[in-house]
Amino acid sequence: MKRHQRPTHFFTRSASSALHFYQNRQLELYASKEARRLTIRQLVFFGKSINEGRLIQSANYVRTELPVRIAHRLREMQTLPYVVVNQEGVADVYEAYWNAFDKFRRYPPITTLEENREFCRFVRSLLDEHKTAIPNLSLGLSLSSPYLEPDRLDSFLRRMLISRISRRVLAEHHISLSQSLAVKLNGEPAKGDSVGIISLSLNVKESIEKCASFLRRWPFDVDQDALEGATHTTAQSEVVIDGHLDTKFSYIQPHLEYIVFELLKNSFRATRLKHAKAEQLPSVRATIVAGEHDVTIRISDQGGGLLSPEIRHPSDLYSFSHLRNPHRMDISRLGALRVVRSSQQGMTATVDEQVNVWKSQAHSEDPQQNAGIGSHPRIGIGLPMSNIFATYFGGSLELVSVDGYGTDAYLRLPRLGTNLEGIEL
Ligand code: COI
Repeated sequence: MKRHQRPTHFFTRSASSALHFYQNRQLELYASKEARRLTIRQLVFFGKSINEGRLIQSANYVRTELPVRIAHRLREMQTLPYVVVNQEGVADVYEAYWNAFDKFRRYPPITTLEENREFCRFVRSLLDEHKTAIPNLSLGLSLSSPYLEPDRLDSFLRRMLISRISRRVLAEHHISLSQSLAVKLNGEPAKGDSVGIISLSLNVKESIEKCASFLRRWPFDVDQDALEGATHTTAQSEVVIDGHLDTKFSYIQPHLEYIVFELLKNSFRATRLKHAKAEQLPSVRATIVAGEHDVTIRISDQGGGLLSPEIRHPSDLYSFSHLRNPHRMDISRLGALRVVRSSQQGMTATVDEQVNVWKSQAHSEDPQQNAGIGSHPRIGIGLPMSNIFATYFGGSLELVSVDGYGTDAYLRLPRLGTNLEGIEL
């Protein structure tokens, strides 16, 4: 769809009022159903001894559950003021979600493994098509922030993003279970200690080390700092990990690593900018604590803290309203969002995928030698998304700024897997 062209289902009455009316009736029907929310434990329990019958059940759950969850969000989008819906990016998301909703609701029941294979291909193609939803929404809602009260804007976006995470989790989990069953039926041994996309004994220290090592090898935003006029050191912080080093728990590895990666990335950058002339940088400390109910990771840096004349409270960094975070309207940030949304690359889902993208953007033939990975646009999504990932299964992410010195980030994730998904109606 061309930019500024309105999605057909939104306002076009003249073309086909009857069709429009019918389609909206379908939407109402689905939007009136409650989402059937799950816990990590349920996802693991159900997928543990996967067989044909269970896989078909899982496929039909995804087939009937996703349109309900999409319908809730479409319904909410319909209540937005016209000026918001008309912003760049928002109509694209509406159109993509409408199409997905319509395809899911028409999808016939799945009864065989062959039909499930086709269903997985269908779901995978939608997962790919929706890659640009987050930069699109961020751009559209940032541009809308003069017209929407900050609480409304942020709560709307929160529901959109957490619902999106939830749908992608259900979809990816089902695809992964389908692959596991195929492996099992081939008589091959199961790979790794996981059920679907849930790692059963995720080693927290190893995940932190992996993220730190990627960042030390690919300090991708050095170029960007230079562009922003910052003189910078080429030194890198060490990451010192302490606390309960053998902590393992059941969780979705890409979610944990997304958050840790973002936090370390911010800490590295802040430290480099604060100690721009230093030959050796203060280390970043990651402390792991395994409590009875939660795993907590504290990441502390000496990067000078978060607050500035523009950012008055750390949680303002999660906001998409320019009234709380004026950087939302920075020309450079809006431009970077436009680049990302049109790249079709959208938001990469895992740290590994992200690193592959940077590698493919490297200027030099020899990535080991090359500190200047193609400058990654700073789009301001990392912290809000980390917050959403943290809260999806009932955890939290709190940022404490010790101004003039550094930042402590407290990530708390539930370790028992008994919390329901945090999606809201
Ligand atoms: C999304 O990415 O937002 C989705 O809803 C994916 C789903 C349609 C498979």
